[in-house]
Amino acid sequence: MAQFPLAPVSSTTAAVLLSNFVLFVWATVDDSSTVILHPPHDGSNRHTMFLPLFPSPSSSSFSGDGKSRRRLHTSDAPSPNARMALHDDLLFDGYFTTSLWIGSPPQKFALIVDTGSTVTYVPCSTCQRCGNHQDPKFNPYLSSTYQPVKCNAGCSSCANDTLQQCLYERKYAELSTSSGVLGEDVISFGNLGQVSPQRSIFGCENMETGDLFTQHADGIMGLGRGDPSIVDQLVDKGVIRDSFSLCYGGMDTGGGAMVLGGISPPSGMVYAYSDPARSPYYNIKLRGLHVAGKRLDLNPSVFDGRLGTILDSGTTYAFLPEAAFLAFKDAIMKELHNVKQINGPDPGYNDICFSGAKSDDGSQLLRTFPTVDMVFGKGQKLSLTPENYLFPHSMVEGAYCLGIFQNGKDATTLLGGILFRNTLVMYDREHNTIGFWKTNCSDLWGRLDASTGDMSPASSASNNNSPRSSSDVGSGRFISLQLIALGIILFLLSNHYVFCV
Ligand SMILES: *[C@@H]1O[C@H](CO)[C@@H](O)[C@H](O)[C@H]1NC(C)=O
Ligand SMILES: *[C@@H]1O[C@H](CO)[C@@H](O)[C@H](O)[C@H]1NC(C)=O
Repeated sequence: MAQFPLAPVSSTTAAVLLSNFVLFVWATVDDSSTVILHPPHDGSNRHTMFLPLFPSPSSSSFSGDGKSRRRLHTSDAPSPNARMALHDDLLFDGYFTTSLWIGSPPQKFALIVDTGSTVTYVPCSTCQRCGNHQDPKFNPYLSSTYQPVKCNAGCSSCANDTLQQCLYERKYAELSTSSGVLGEDVISFGNLGQVSPQRSIFGCENMETGDLFTQHADGIMGLGRGDPSIVDQLVDKGVIRDSFSLCYGGMDTGGGAMVLGGISPPSGMVYAYSDPARSPYYNIKLRGLHVAGKRLDLNPSVFDGRLGTILDSGTTYAFLPEAAFLAFKDAIMKELHNVKQINGPDPGYNDICFSGAKSDDGSQLLRTFPTVDMVFGKGQKLSLTPENYLFPHSMVEGAYCLGIFQNGKDATTLLGGILFRNTLVMYDREHNTIGFWKTNCSDLWGRLDASTGDMSPASSASNNNSPRSSSDVGSGRFISLQLIALGIILFLLSNHYVFCV
């Protein structure tokens, strides 16, 4: 995750910055990267954007063992999962976080859920250059179950000390980096669900710069594809099915919910094919857009330019190729009556904003603004409400601005979190599909259970504010550090760069 200092969103500059960023990151061989622009509430109306990069699973040298174990849960029987609450808000904080507990006894952290990162990391008590975050740093010396990950064949960077610890480093952009040592400890995912605490590898930070230093959240929870990812580690151990879900709260509420592991898909869920070979991102097959029920006159190939259509719940807004954006904007304008187009909150940006909507209440926006449908392959359709493509004007009460922008001259379609507010997004990696279900994310568990008939053993759990006890770990099965470390040799695209985790 990194701060990209001065990137406006609209106009061609965005394209330049976006493509520069991609080039920069690929050139620096990061497995994951995130751009954060300032959220609108800071008065600058710069936009928060997380842009992930991570290797596709097929490019991992670790695929052999991991892939075979990934077959452990292929039945359609209900599988264990961890239900977790999301906190904060994409527009106002720049991210959503969830709570994780590490160590014995457990130490608690608020981590940004980032589909664009693979490794999970928290500030270490040994850190000389870490910012002030919302929780105390992780102290390995206070955990009876902590073990350093030692240097081995797969570790490209080794600490020059008696412990011979394997080091990791993440560079997201010029100003934002995280580096430290790799450790292994018991990680707990809360008590809503059936996933007991598991030994996992994570980064213990000894240095942070940029946004990673200044942000309130403690660190990052990596949900991307790649062996260091928490999801991959749990799947490789046979703990969960190869799936996770995110549900971002609405415009006025924030927060939300997430699930690690499989869920019974609610009836009414719509699906998009996610081609793991299309790009290192989570791609979907987008075929078209409808505004107020009318199909935009666009060739479906417009959504398959360059990297294709990328779904990144860590990006705040949505970015369309020029032709698609112009058609979309024109269609929206045609549907608007009795509103006035006004300037955006920041003169430096060409935001398209409207005042005079009939109600200040976000949930009533439908009276003024049309629905927008996304059409996937096989004609499956996801209907979006205005809260999925508008954000509140920070300086004019009751005014809203389009949260969908032209991606400069870049042909890539980047679909960010705003599009999926109050939508359950199921990343079913096992079946290469992504499922969408419009729902109220503030009330997900009740709705999910009602829709699927599942009786969750956890829905009556008293609170999610405590970890399970580490004794749940049972046999204390240790994962092979050697294997994990081998998996740490990742190949990015066809370039055989080697780096540590
Ligand atoms: C490792 O530490 C030893 C002893 O402090 C020092 O002599 C050596 O130069 C160090 N090696 C590297 C590569 O920093
Ligand atoms: C969603 O559910 C929450 C909690 O039950 C409720 O407060 C909120 O009003 C609901 N939102 C909508 C849009 O129905």
